[in-house]
Amino acid sequence: MKHELGAKIVGTGRAVPENTLTNEDLEKMVDTSDEWIRERTGMKVRHIAEPGVDTSDLATRAAENAMAAAGVTATEIDVIILATITADVQFPSTACYVQQKIGAVNAAAFDIAAACSGFIYGLQLANSMFLSGKYKNILVIGAEVLSRITDYTDRNTCVLFGDGAGAVLLQPTDGQSGIIDTYIKSDGRLSHLLIMPGGGTRNPATYETIDQRMNYIKMEGREVFKSAVTAMGDAATHILKENGLTGKDIQLLITHQANNRIIEATARRVKISKDKVYSNVEHYGNTSAASIPIALDEAIRDGRLKRGDKCMLVAFGGGFTWGSAIVQM
Ligand code: ACO
Repeated sequence: MKHELGAKIVGTGRAVPENTLTNEDLEKMVDTSDEWIRERTGMKVRHIAEPGVDTSDLATRAAENAMAAAGVTATEIDVIILATITADVQFPSTACYVQQKIGAVNAAAFDIAAACSGFIYGLQLANSMFLSGKYKNILVIGAEVLSRITDYTDRNTCVLFGDGAGAVLLQPTDGQSGIIDTYIKSDGRLSHLLIMPGGGTRNPATYETIDQRMNYIKMEGREVFKSAVTAMGDAATHILKENGLTGKDIQLLITHQANNRIIEATARRVKISKDKVYSNVEHYGNTSAASIPIALDEAIRDGRLKRGDKCMLVAFGGGFTWGSAIVQM
């Protein structure tokens, strides 16, 4: 194995809004069908945050559940890293709102934006921070309220996205379990294929940019699909090879939950059998940075991941960004 075991996951949590949006609901909103959505994506239901519920609210609930699972109190948290592309406001960072809401008065808190790969980027960052020896408890959260940047008049995108949050609490490894390795990559040349063009310095919010619907997700679905399949396959292959492992050594593959066809293609590339592939895309749609930590929490709480198991995480998203991690439970 290339790396020493790094930080260890000591608790996980998730939070998903109760309100749902089904394929049948979408049939009434745009020209689509339950059959088309299920065949192309595997999705049936997404969860949608109620008005007044912000990304930080979902992130806070997920973080509190992770802390409760670990038996760690808010004042013990040293760092909060929040991966999101749907921040409560442009600034300050949503992580600071989470800090305030959970009462983590001793923490440093900041956001990272790596779209659907954000959670893997956060894991890599947190893992590296532990190497400094300065930190004992780091929360890594992926949280999104994508429904607020989804254009419900655009059938190409509006069927895909949902809201939710997942969190992990990390501590220094005990040498038995921990993050074996992480891998992250980007290609900014393809940034235009998946973008929310409005609201930043390029196209600040004006009547014009709002009229042009620039404050919503724009996506070239077919191009994103092709890149996602290639990059996620590469990320999975790379990290296995770097660590002298094969698909057979992995007990559970959790990829970013974008689409069942992408998930299956990634598993095939590294020869991981279907029974070792986690999918909940049917129940949540694509929740971007939140999808992997939500799935991880479910898999741990449902007993799909047991102590000693190796779990591989793989993601791809806007940027483009992609990455992978192998965690020994
Ligand atoms: N309902 C019905 N028809 C639709 C819908 C819809 N919701 N959306 C598009 N169509 C139509 C298109 O207009 C097109 O019609 P045409 O042939 O008459 O032009 C036809 O369906 C086929 O469209 P494609 O885009 O080629 O369909 P594809 O098989 O590629 O599936 C999808 C589309 C599901 C978006 C796919 O490209 C995909 O999953 N891409 C990845 C997108 C993604 O996951 N992005 C999220 C961020 S990145 C990530 O998370 C990995």
